[in-house]
Amino acid sequence: MDVSEAIYNRRSVRKFEDRQVPREDLEQLINYARLAPSGMNKQPLEFVAVDDPKTERELFDYTSWAGAVDWSPAPDERPRAYIAILINPEVDPATEEHDAGLASANICLGAVEKGLGSCILGALEREPIKDLLDIPDHLVLDLVIGLGYPDQEIEVESESDRIDYWWDDDGTFHVPKKPVKKIMHLNGWSN
Ligand SMILES: Cc1cc2nc3c(=O)[nH]c(=O)nc-3n(C[C@H](O)[C@H](O)[C@H](O)COP(=O)(O)O)c2cc1C
Repeated sequence: MDVSEAIYNRRSVRKFEDRQVPREDLEQLINYARLAPSGMNKQPLEFVAVDDPKTERELFDYTSWAGAVDWSPAPDERPRAYIAILINPEVDPATEEHDAGLASANICLGAVEKGLGSCILGALEREPIKDLLDIPDHLVLDLVIGLGYPDQEIEVESESDRIDYWWDDDGTFHVPKKPVKKIMHLNGWSN
């Protein structure tokens, strides 16, 4: 799979098959995250992979899904694994939130290669998740990524003026993205 294929096919998936994610895939995704850039190479991130069904079920209850369409996956449509991304302030990180974003991108793009879908989750009840996963107090829970085999058709819309995604009557999920012409300026702002 080439990079552009992974970029186009990586979409935020919010409906998954009820099928286990191989543990070696989770390990490989964290390997990809490890190789992401970090400011001054401080590498302030740690990762907790979750593939235990009971823990998955509890973790889901502390997440929020697809705020723009008022929809949340049913029990048999939920992620079958998660990766929690933690920041360790003790390493005096330089750019920790950028680092977490870049690690997330590696995980989500790597997931495409493995036939997995992903959704970055930032709307979290962080304290209960930290308790559930036994995360030490000093670590900051930044993001959680939900993972599983996608069970959803998703199309990118590049000609829409909307920014909110929508379902259509056929069950296809549409994600609007601003066109390049609208956001690219050449050799200065006014062009
Ligand atoms: C930092 C961050 C936090 C996000 N948090 C959530 C979330 O809590 N719940 C959710 O359903 N989607 C979440 N998303 C997914 C976005 O809604 C999604 O990226 C956006 O709608 C565009 O869709 P795409 O990822 O398919 O391009 C988050 C994305 C990012 C980058």
